[in-house]
Amino acid sequence: MDRGDKNRNQEGDIFAKGHARDLGVRAQACVIDTPVDPCTVVIFGASGDLTARKLVPSLYNLYRNHGLPNRFAVVGCSRKTWTREDFQDAMERAVKEVEVGDTSKWSEFVRALAYQPVTYDSLPSYEKLATVLRETDENHKTEGNRVYYLALPPSLYQTVAEMLGQAGLSVEGENGNGWSRIVIEKPFGRDLETAVELNQTLHKSFKEHQIYRIDHYLAKETVQNVLVFRFGNAIFEPLWNRSYIDHVRIIAAETIGVEHRAGYYEEAGVLRDMFQNHMMQLLALTAMDPPSLFEAERVRDEKLEVFQALRPLNLDKIDEDLILGQYGPGRIGGEKVPGYREEPRVSSDSVTPTFALMRVFLDNWRWQGVPFYLMSGKRLARKSTEIVIQFKQVPHSMFRPVLGEHIAVNRLTLGIQPDEKIKLTFQTKNPGATFCLRSVTMDFDYHENYAGPRLDAYEKCLLDCMQGDHMLFWRQDAVELSWSFLTPIIDQCEQCPDPGKRLRFYASGSWGPLSSDELEQFIS
Ligand code: BG6
Repeated sequence: MDRGDKNRNQEGDIFAKGHARDLGVRAQACVIDTPVDPCTVVIFGASGDLTARKLVPSLYNLYRNHGLPNRFAVVGCSRKTWTREDFQDAMERAVKEVEVGDTSKWSEFVRALAYQPVTYDSLPSYEKLATVLRETDENHKTEGNRVYYLALPPSLYQTVAEMLGQAGLSVEGENGNGWSRIVIEKPFGRDLETAVELNQTLHKSFKEHQIYRIDHYLAKETVQNVLVFRFGNAIFEPLWNRSYIDHVRIIAAETIGVEHRAGYYEEAGVLRDMFQNHMMQLLALTAMDPPSLFEAERVRDEKLEVFQALRPLNLDKIDEDLILGQYGPGRIGGEKVPGYREEPRVSSDSVTPTFALMRVFLDNWRWQGVPFYLMSGKRLARKSTEIVIQFKQVPHSMFRPVLGEHIAVNRLTLGIQPDEKIKLTFQTKNPGATFCLRSVTMDFDYHENYAGPRLDAYEKCLLDCMQGDHMLFWRQDAVELSWSFLTPIIDQCEQCPDPGKRLRFYASGSWGPLSSDELEQFIS
């Protein structure tokens, strides 16, 4: 090896020494950032689906990857008159069922699990819980720090929050409490009015810095990567505006149907279920300006500006900007599946939309005139969540005499799931004597060259909450702006004389109610 070779990095680039050094530093920093404060996670709804499928498996995974504080405890609460052993057994079965992988540490982890039956609207029940939590603090040395996780139907959020307040469990630094945080799942209300009301009730017992409104999309690795991709690279941001971008498509397509959640979904529909939260967050991450610092409030401030810039849809001509659909029978993966109206507990004349395609504009300098198409639906042909940035045509084609008018445009795809990829398409010349262009794709797989630990979305949410980091959680002002935009649209669709009229049916396993010509027309 000569002296020159010694100075070269892997890519053979003699100028890249600093770059290689940076990579080393970053790789070192990429281990799980274990919370420093000991704490107890109190799960309300401990006998429910979310606890079994997500919360306890996530806590166990964090534990075995050294992601929990050294001193921690979990107290499950629900109406069930379970003993501690009943809860521990149910959780062991659940963890084995979701196949977390290595369960060899379960026998250590399980010692941290306790159970306390709770009647959700009974103050004495919470007073008893307070005593149990103080004992837990003593046994596990958790110093009175608590996360209250409401894995409950939304109708119980207000009751539980109020009761925690009345039992003295929400105040910080008093009654033997350390810090105290409450986690709630979406939906945060079902319209603007109920979102404001829920917030007022939460604020009777908790301050804003104690409230964590979960959107599990934000904790997906690839969603977090949108900001890194945009603001950690110098080359894309100068193009990220109306001068270079023709339109943006944000798609969250699912193959699953309503499953066992008809009771909730019949009331919600796709606009409340996917648009008010996940789609709005994907829009905000795609469209926001760079914050001056990667810090929760600054990031959330910039997102807020996106919501403030949302142009209200013209309600008199709403069909020009919004397509609603509902899945009918069809086939998914070769299997016959029923239509939405035939699903258990769905009304046979339901007009609940399971698909929506919406065109929105942002009224600001960066995005004036650039349409954002948001599309989400159940029982579609393929599960795919992605953000597609479609760039403009070249301003002048010198190839026109040889190629005619058309040169395919550049497209950048940020794959969120299940394809965790970033793809950039561009034009190249076909090798050979004739002069033909072809589109090729440069493809980055998110898993390439990375073998370190990965956090699932719920693990990340739990960890951030224990660390007191609000970055990936909704702030109330943003919740209200999102509802301010959507509530008139939902009202217009639900309160018109014939709400079923604008609903278009699509076969399960298709790409929704629009033919490809209609889709092209909508997007053009
Ligand atoms: C939930 C919705 O928030 O997100 C569900 O209530 C939807 O209806 C789910 O299926 C999609 O999440 P993911 O992570 O599977 O894309």
